[in-house]
Amino acid sequence: MSEVYEKLKGCYDAVRKMTDFEPEVALVLGSGLGDFADNIEVEGEISYKDIPGFPVSTAPGHVGKFIYGRIGDKKIICMKGRVHFYEGYAISDVVLPARLMGMLGAKVLILTNASGGINENFKPGDFMLITDHISSFAVNPLIGPNIAELGVRFPDMSEIYNHELNDKIRAAAKELGIDLKEGVYLQTTGPSYESPAEIRMFKTLGADAVGMSTVVEAIAANHAGMKICGISCVTNLAAGIAKYKLTEEEVLEAGAAAAPRFKELLIKFIGEI
Ligand code: HPA
Repeated sequence: MSEVYEKLKGCYDAVRKMTDFEPEVALVLGSGLGDFADNIEVEGEISYKDIPGFPVSTAPGHVGKFIYGRIGDKKIICMKGRVHFYEGYAISDVVLPARLMGMLGAKVLILTNASGGINENFKPGDFMLITDHISSFAVNPLIGPNIAELGVRFPDMSEIYNHELNDKIRAAAKELGIDLKEGVYLQTTGPSYESPAEIRMFKTLGADAVGMSTVVEAIAANHAGMKICGISCVTNLAAGIAKYKLTEEEVLEAGAAAAPRFKELLIKFIGEI
């Protein structure tokens, strides 16, 4: 058994000692969206620190716990606070939570995040359905011995973001009158924001939004056979597109301002899965 899988299995066993809850849907909440968990009919919570070996997030706006329960008739597990590569964790630790939620039973993974808008048709507060991603500026989470218990050595990535789930998100947005944007999300390692020259490069490469998460989790979850979808909240215009400097406060404030609409969209969508 690989070391990474051994650790994952240890976390799984620890969680199973605390609950036999089997989620259908897993949800990762991005910056500023943490209080979405208030919409869950909670059955239980597990602090990351109570799972031996589990990486504990240090990022502002990220509380570290799993909350599980129901939204309507769906059994959901929600990560309040994710782990980022820029915090200094091994990439295998960054994707451990997504893999763990899959092992607990979740077939669907909903990834959310905050991003900088590159596409000139985007404005702060917009939501972007992630239709594809660019992983070339992040570390691949599958590097190392393949975990055959989860998936194959060279997994296909031609439809990472599931078309049927995407159609349901589009339909939910339409019903709510949300002008849902769509595009390609590019992940950097962070933690520095991008330079204007980098943003011009990313634009040339086909990216519509940029952020510091999501792609690596999507790769690991896709490897493990989960159905994935992603929605990004464009909290700011990317460097050089905005004529002012970027700050963490701006990202968190814009995320918080968009959160009520984001929640409505998620709840409607989850009801349709
Ligand atoms: N760049 C990278 N990550 C981000 C940004 C950005 O402009 N906004 C929110 N997360």
